[in-house]
Amino acid sequence: MGARIVAVANQKGGVGKTTTAINLAACLAEAGEHCLLVDLDPQANATSGLGRRANGHSTLDLLDGVPLPELTIPSSFANLDLVPAKPELAATSVQLSALEGGERYLSDALAGDATGGYGFVFLDCPPAFGPLTVNALAAADRVLVPVQAEYYALEGLSQLLGSIDLVKRRLNPRLGVAGILLTMVDGRTRLAAEVEAELRSHFGELVFSTTVPRSIRLAEAPSHGVPAIAYDRRSAGAEAYWKVAMELVERA
Ligand SMILES: Nc1ncnc2c1ncn2[C@@H]1O[C@H](COP(=O)(O)OP(=O)(O)OP(=O)(O)O)[C@@H](O)[C@H]1O
Ligand SMILES: [Mg+2]
Repeated sequence: MGARIVAVANQKGGVGKTTTAINLAACLAEAGEHCLLVDLDPQANATSGLGRRANGHSTLDLLDGVPLPELTIPSSFANLDLVPAKPELAATSVQLSALEGGERYLSDALAGDATGGYGFVFLDCPPAFGPLTVNALAAADRVLVPVQAEYYALEGLSQLLGSIDLVKRRLNPRLGVAGILLTMVDGRTRLAAEVEAELRSHFGELVFSTTVPRSIRLAEAPSHGVPAIAYDRRSAGAEAYWKVAMELVERA
């Protein structure tokens, strides 16, 4: 059986996609699931956040048809592998949309036995609903949508869920929504509580029960090239992602 493939997507920038992908992959890796993180963002934040740089091979080659096992490298964290990204991915993204069947390149690359050695594969998407995100959604079993606890949190969210549904109907009937994850929650503010209440009243069960607090440790960990559980296991952020990971296992 292949891996469970989870795309982490939201067209909004800076909502916690990469932080979520890195930390969920690390928690599940620690729980004993062999995990892979595929960096689909030309910014390559997941790559640097896991202490690596793309020297040569990258997700570009994956989209070009190079077999997955030739492209995975160990990350800074045990049991967690990585396909690194590099800035040139931005140009490819434009070409993908012009190529016949270009929205299925990643899905082809991850199909069948390719991911057989993994329990979970996380796809870290760029902040746009463009060809790379469409490729991720076409390849994924589940999509997880991080949402930042701020005033504009719900704006665009229904539209995003609509676009996800379109990809499901057109390209990937297997696709399901793993859930909406509220991130960067500042527990002391009334705004955060209001955003959470509104999110839950609109989307109900779709929202993860666990929310991720604003945590300086989560923001610092990437500069050390490690996930939060390696940087400060007892931090509120690390503990929250551990709970989210357990919820994901139940939902995925
Ligand atoms: N819970 C949190 N508490 C504090 N800082 C956080 C938290 N989650 C993310 N951050 C920080 O906020 C910034 C944006 O997070 P992140 O890079 O994960 O978002 P993103 O959605 O992947 O962004 P992009 O759209 O640019 O890819 C980063 O500097 C990250 O370290
Ligand atoms: Mg990111």
